[in-house]
Amino acid sequence: MIGASLGDRSGRGAGEARAPIAAPHLRQDPWWVLPLTVFVVFTAFIVYATWAAFQNAHYYVDPYLSPFYSPCVYARCLHPTLGPGRGLPELAVPLIGIVSPAILILWGPGIFRLTCYYYRKAYYRSFWLAPPACGVRDAASGYTGETRFPLILQAFHRYTWYLALIFLGFLAWDALLAFRFPDGFGIGVGTLVMWVNVLLLGLYTFSCHSCRHICGGHVDVFSRAPSRYGLWYLVSRLNERHPAFAWLSLFSVALTDLYIRLVSAGMIHDVRIL
Ligand code: FES
Repeated sequence: MIGASLGDRSGRGAGEARAPIAAPHLRQDPWWVLPLTVFVVFTAFIVYATWAAFQNAHYYVDPYLSPFYSPCVYARCLHPTLGPGRGLPELAVPLIGIVSPAILILWGPGIFRLTCYYYRKAYYRSFWLAPPACGVRDAASGYTGETRFPLILQAFHRYTWYLALIFLGFLAWDALLAFRFPDGFGIGVGTLVMWVNVLLLGLYTFSCHSCRHICGGHVDVFSRAPSRYGLWYLVSRLNERHPAFAWLSLFSVALTDLYIRLVSAGMIHDVRIL
């Protein structure tokens, strides 16, 4: 009894040797389905986003701008965020066509997702198999967690949240401009697509663990800070669904780009609702 109380969660008593088990793990369920699915979906997104970012074309069709190109910071952008003719000149001639405006800005939202607590768990399991699943041994030995360079930099996630807010602001502005058609106010399917994207990205951003900490993490006595408590409570409810928002917003970004790309290329027609 005394030994058991000093032991670990496996039920072993302190000093007791681990039971000799030959199998690498004892799980009988299809535990590999989830990491494999994450691997396939994440890889597909990275391939598509990289391809779209290098295209430097079909990212804008009046009044819609692809989220991969927002804010569009080149002077030659079809939808210059800084105003007509005000953006950056394109880089040296050999690089034109390679360095699209998307390449210049995608590191911002990219680093926010890459350092996200939820995604970290997902890609550590599916890409690095460290570990692939609960109760399944790491593929590599010598696990050091996030205690060393470069993974120790993951702790900067809390600062990337502010960066994500700026990008969310640009996307919301683009979605507002999506009501402004050449012949005046209107609503097209593309307008709705862009707003759904902003909504899902907003849910992902505001359900972030860092956002929850910003809202109430420093408060010792909630009864003395009712508004902070209210915010913290709301974000905590959103936070419970953070993994779902992470995936839904990932899909919505890619699908919004795809929709605008297909309309811009003339492969489908945007339906005007109003
Ligand atoms: S924890 Fe996922 S975005 Fe912050």
